[in-house]
Amino acid sequence: MKREITLRVNNKDEVIVIDDADTLLEVLRDRLKLWSVRESCGVGACGSCTVLLDGRPASSCFLLAARTTGHDIVTLEGLGDGAELHYIQEAFVSQRALQCAYCTPGFILSVKALLDETPEPSDEEIREYLAGNLCRCAGYADILRAVRVAQDKKKSLAFKE
Ligand code: FES
Ligand code: FES
Repeated sequence: MKREITLRVNNKDEVIVIDDADTLLEVLRDRLKLWSVRESCGVGACGSCTVLLDGRPASSCFLLAARTTGHDIVTLEGLGDGAELHYIQEAFVSQRALQCAYCTPGFILSVKALLDETPEPSDEEIREYLAGNLCRCAGYADILRAVRVAQDKKKSLAFKE
């Protein structure tokens, strides 16, 4: 069945007509053209389609769009200001924590949620939090280092506020 819904995406209300069976991934990519949200496994197992739902990582391939009305959805496009990279993106670049970058948007959103929830995570907590994000080509040691660089940057920005 078709219905009109309003989704709150990247701080903007989007009014769209969807089919009940549409996943959030399909709506974000096909309708809103948010290309950072990527499909890989399609069954909630790889994290490449990760978005933040009320600040927590969620697999958008595994969520019906109709179920996400009234929630705050953030994609990678909503992180930076459009002119400069977000500090977590910078950390991934500076630590070479990406190769093909297919998985990177999902990782960056999960790292944001992790550092918002746990500003000083242990290595174990980082590994556990990022367990739902899979990377086929970059080294996990590089990703771990990028998290530490982002963590330091977040702390230094907080001191300036
Ligand atoms: S594409 Fe959604 S978790 Fe893999
Ligand atoms: S950088 Fe290629 S899958 Fe992660």
